[in-house]
Amino acid sequence: MVVPESQDKMYYPPDDLKRDAHVPDFNTYLALYRKSLENPEAFWKEIADEFFWKKPATGPMLQYNFDVTKGTIYVKCMEGAKTNMCYNVLDRLVKERDLGERVAYYWEGNSPDHHMAITYRQLLSQVCRCANVLKQMGVKKGDRVSIYLPMIPELVYTMLACARIGAVHSIVFAGFSSESLCERIVDAQSSVLVTADGVYRGEKLINLKQIADEALKKCRERASSSVTKCLVIKHPAFRTKDGAACNKLQTSWDPGCDVWWDEVMRDSPEECEPEWLDAEDPLFILYTSGSTGKPKGVLHTVGGYLLYTSLTFKYVFDHHHDDVYWCTADIGWITGHSYITYGPLANGATSVLKYKVTKFYTAPTAIRLLMKYGREPLQKYDLSSLRILGTVGEPINPEAWEWYHDAVGQGRCPVVDTYWQTETGGHVLTPLPAATPLKPGSATFPFFGVEPTILNEHGEELEGEGEGYLVFRRPWPGIMRSVYRNHERFEKTYFKKFPGFYVTGDGCRRDKDGYYWMTGRIDDMLNVSGHLMSTAEVEAALTEHPALAEAAVVSRPHKVKGECLYCFVTLKDSREFNHKLVEELKRLVREKIGPIATPDFIQNAPVLPKTRSGKIMRRILRHIARNEKDLGDLSTLADPKVVEELFSKRCEAA
Ligand code: WT7
Repeated sequence: MVVPESQDKMYYPPDDLKRDAHVPDFNTYLALYRKSLENPEAFWKEIADEFFWKKPATGPMLQYNFDVTKGTIYVKCMEGAKTNMCYNVLDRLVKERDLGERVAYYWEGNSPDHHMAITYRQLLSQVCRCANVLKQMGVKKGDRVSIYLPMIPELVYTMLACARIGAVHSIVFAGFSSESLCERIVDAQSSVLVTADGVYRGEKLINLKQIADEALKKCRERASSSVTKCLVIKHPAFRTKDGAACNKLQTSWDPGCDVWWDEVMRDSPEECEPEWLDAEDPLFILYTSGSTGKPKGVLHTVGGYLLYTSLTFKYVFDHHHDDVYWCTADIGWITGHSYITYGPLANGATSVLKYKVTKFYTAPTAIRLLMKYGREPLQKYDLSSLRILGTVGEPINPEAWEWYHDAVGQGRCPVVDTYWQTETGGHVLTPLPAATPLKPGSATFPFFGVEPTILNEHGEELEGEGEGYLVFRRPWPGIMRSVYRNHERFEKTYFKKFPGFYVTGDGCRRDKDGYYWMTGRIDDMLNVSGHLMSTAEVEAALTEHPALAEAAVVSRPHKVKGECLYCFVTLKDSREFNHKLVEELKRLVREKIGPIATPDFIQNAPVLPKTRSGKIMRRILRHIARNEKDLGDLSTLADPKVVEELFSKRCEAA
């Protein structure tokens, strides 16, 4: 890898950011990167020294086997060390660094009267009280606690309380159905469920407790009634200003199982000695749906995850103590775990709120949604505090990247396009904002300790330019350790295809300057007349058209070409779908990629089917394109109504 200079359009880091940056230029990045691969022991040891270890490690910083032909797959970081995550992200700051009065979170509810600032000291005291409540309920080290909560401060209190007593949290996004919640409780065999009475989603009142009750009923029917207690939080929206309950919801109550949070927290002591865990003890399980079948319980452990999330947060967002950082994710997703809770807190960061944000982190789908409204709404606000913008979750098309950079970042904020997965624990391919020259749409280069390579179908490594499977040759501290209670599935899913490598399941291209470009999931590849192409590149070409807000491309069988392209396009607000537009779009793709990629079908799609985390569900679009009515499991779809609408607008013939 060389310091990138290229004929491509590049965006260079702004000087004011370089001045006090942790990694101020590309050569510094390269030197640190080399050290992280050549001497991982020394590299990670230095990071670990920032944190508190009750007992030092007896094993090396990293130990692993990635080769299924040589035995079981494992990764261990700092074996033998004793520590506690909660102590490191709270007590260490409050007691050792005197940061108790610093704000950890500015919380904003749905309505303007619901907001508060929570300092590190207050957070520690709430977490300890909650930890004592959980202990009182019989939760011990190693027990699982399922958490089904909206974005309220109690969600952070509960997850950190689990971390404090060595319980393993399994957070289930509060938009999931009772069926999904039940499935995840059964798999985790949780002994406690934490939920809230209800939540407003926009104007709509959702009775969460009722969904939780249904889930528990289903668990019992499946003879796996592991849950003995259900801790219920009264959502701040259902309290009056003085904290009294104002009941808008009918909540059914099982006195043998249900416990009101307020009642047990009131007298719970503020002191709670942390449970000293092994570095490799589990910290949490987080279910990721996977393309088919049962969700996988991705397991992360204490020590490595602490090192990796804290370091990526510090470097990728170039964190400084006067920042106000806002990540728009829900804590129910890995982005929230790593970059709302653990990474930021480990750095003593101040998160969220809407005012004077300096670092803003969101998903491409949200950017494309905002693009639909044009630049005008942005002009009403003072965006001058912003310094770094981030994206995650999907390949970002250059069009959306440039809009984000120019309209939101006003041309002065680097965009860090962070590629990673629930499984990787933290960013693995990402720019560093003061060091890396950017190319719109590229996640650029690997983070420290990460060694990517690209393989072809036969498992041969591609040198230099090329496109194929993105894999990693060695672990970094934050990588997942197993699929909960199913290590075989872990080995099969990630290590079987190419022995010796962790297989991401994503396609990737390395360009002539060494930049990595994600091309989408491998299963989102298309083969048109023997030419392999990714949905992402066609989508990027389409969205260059000024009328388009978003595009999703899938394959449809074709007598001659094998497969052909079927494109769903969402127009910007005031645009009209007509024949002329269709022809323009076809021409655009032909010009950008080549005649081989000319779409056969272009369908108007006022809305696209998305998961609740904002990923386009191309599987469903494939069914629509092929007119297959049996759509399989739709439970991860945010709004099931879109399917019918898309069927009604389907293109029959080209
Ligand atoms: C998949 C992982 C990681 C937090 C959110 C999603 C896709 C993620 C990017 C990016 C291109 C990306 C990949 C990956 N993805 N970030 N910057 N560019 N693709 O977590 O639900 O585990 O999804 O999201 O396909 O495998 P997840």
